[in-house]
Amino acid sequence: LGAEDSALPESFAARFARYSRRIGERLDQTLPGADVTPERLHEAMRYAVLNGGKRVRPLLVYATGECLAVEASLLDAPAAAMELIHAFSLIHDDLPAMDDDDLRRGAPTVHRKFDEATAILAADALQPLAFDVLVRAPGIGDRQAVELVRLLAGACGSLGMTGGQSIDLASEGRLLRPAELEQMHKLKTGALIRASVLSACCLSPALANGRRDALDRFAQAVGLAFQIRDDILDVEGETGVLGKQAGQDERRRKATWPSVFGLPASRERCAELLRDGLQCLDAFGSDAEFLRWLARFIVEREQ
Ligand code: IPE
Ligand code: IPE
Ligand code: MG
Ligand code: MG
Ligand code: MG
Repeated sequence: LGAEDSALPESFAARFARYSRRIGERLDQTLPGADVTPERLHEAMRYAVLNGGKRVRPLLVYATGECLAVEASLLDAPAAAMELIHAFSLIHDDLPAMDDDDLRRGAPTVHRKFDEATAILAADALQPLAFDVLVRAPGIGDRQAVELVRLLAGACGSLGMTGGQSIDLASEGRLLRPAELEQMHKLKTGALIRASVLSACCLSPALANGRRDALDRFAQAVGLAFQIRDDILDVEGETGVLGKQAGQDERRRKATWPSVFGLPASRERCAELLRDGLQCLDAFGSDAEFLRWLARFIVEREQ
């Protein structure tokens, strides 16, 4: 947590820590042990998932669940599934064929710690594990499980995260039009963040359409803001705080929000998206207080 967070009410920071611990334990139990054959593959999977990270996607699942009074025990599976897909996407994102990064979460990237083939396979194995978690979830019926599987498949496939990553790579060295850049960000990062919020909605069968749409709009605003903040931090953040090499986007001539709009406009867009997102939560009153806090955390974070 950043320095500003110490000024925030203890209850939110404590809740953040409590859910982070909860998802960490859940992921630890879900992943095969490092002593299970093939050991090196399992070691790499565990390294990728359990080696820190802010756990923003699982936290959004739990916070949305709090807002809708969904039992936390039902939220563990979608929370874990989102983080497993996220971890798989980071392994691939860091590969030499993609962003070619050596540092992630303050430690060597998976292909640097192990080797490229092991990194590719670890990501390959994390993806189906996420779906397995959803279909095995205790307390979640078949219909809801199918709905969750469809939601996650859509969010991480070629019309979601993977499609966004493809656009990202094709855009290196190109100046994107604003609409193209926004589309890329919505897909590569927004889709999984949106799915995190919507997964908790799936577990609230009586949820009225209007309320679901409001949470959907909230998630889309926050998802876009998340990647804009990531782009800003690549420019003005420090490697030691970020846990990943700063300045990589410029080095690789990535299409980013600051490269297209400049830093001041990027900060303004983030603030505007936060305002828009928070407005979507108005009807939820105090039930959405942790969700509001998380949205602020996402746009104000320093790592
Ligand atoms: C980094 O995601 C990749 C993006 C989608 C921008 P996070 O900033 O959530 O990374 P961790 O999980 O905290 O390491
Ligand atoms: C990554 O975006 C998005 C996904 C992994 C889907 P970035 O390439 O900007 O993420 P970082 O900066 O390496 O974490
Ligand atoms: Mg990338
Ligand atoms: Mg990257
Ligand atoms: Mg980045």
